[in-house]
Amino acid sequence: MKVEFELNGARVDIDVAPRTTLADCIRHQLLQTGTHVGCEHGVCGACTVIVDGAAVRSCLMLAVQAEGARVTTVEGLSHEAALSPLQASFRKHHALQCGFCTPGMLTTAHALLSEEPEADRERIREVLSGNLCRCTGYIPIVEAMYAARVHYGKK
Ligand code: FES
Ligand code: FES
Repeated sequence: MKVEFELNGARVDIDVAPRTTLADCIRHQLLQTGTHVGCEHGVCGACTVIVDGAAVRSCLMLAVQAEGARVTTVEGLSHEAALSPLQASFRKHHALQCGFCTPGMLTTAHALLSEEPEADRERIREVLSGNLCRCTGYIPIVEAMYAARVHYGKK
C-alpha cells in the first residue's frame, strides 16, 4: 500500500505492507534508526515518536495510519551543529546510561514540554510512567526534563 506522510520535516511517499508498523517502517524502510522497539506491545515506550504533536508508540501504530500525518523521531529533535537544549539537559543531568530508552524518553519529553512547559515533577513522573528505563532510576531523567522547561516557554 502507498502511504504518504511527513517525517522530520521531509515528505515521505513509500510502499508498505498493510501490517507494517510505523516503527518498522521508520527504522527499516526509512532508515531513521533512532527509533527502535523493545517490548513491541506498547509497554516500554522505547519506540515513542511524535505524531501530530502527540507522543505515540510506533510499535502499536500501522504505517498506513500515518497517512497525512506529521511524524517526528528523535533525529528530528536534534540539530546538526549542537545538542538541542533538551539533549544537553539530559547530558548535564546524567539522564542516560545505556541509551536504549533515550529516544523514547526524549520524544516523550518533547511532546510533554511542548504542550505543558509548566509541568511539575509530579506531572513529569506521571507521563514518564509509560517509559521504562532499566539503568538510571528515573530521577536524573525527571530532573533533566524539569530543568529543560525554560527552553519550552516556562516562565
Ligand atoms: S516497543 Fe513500543 S512500547 Fe515497547
Ligand atoms: S539508559 Fe539504559 S534503559 Fe534507560
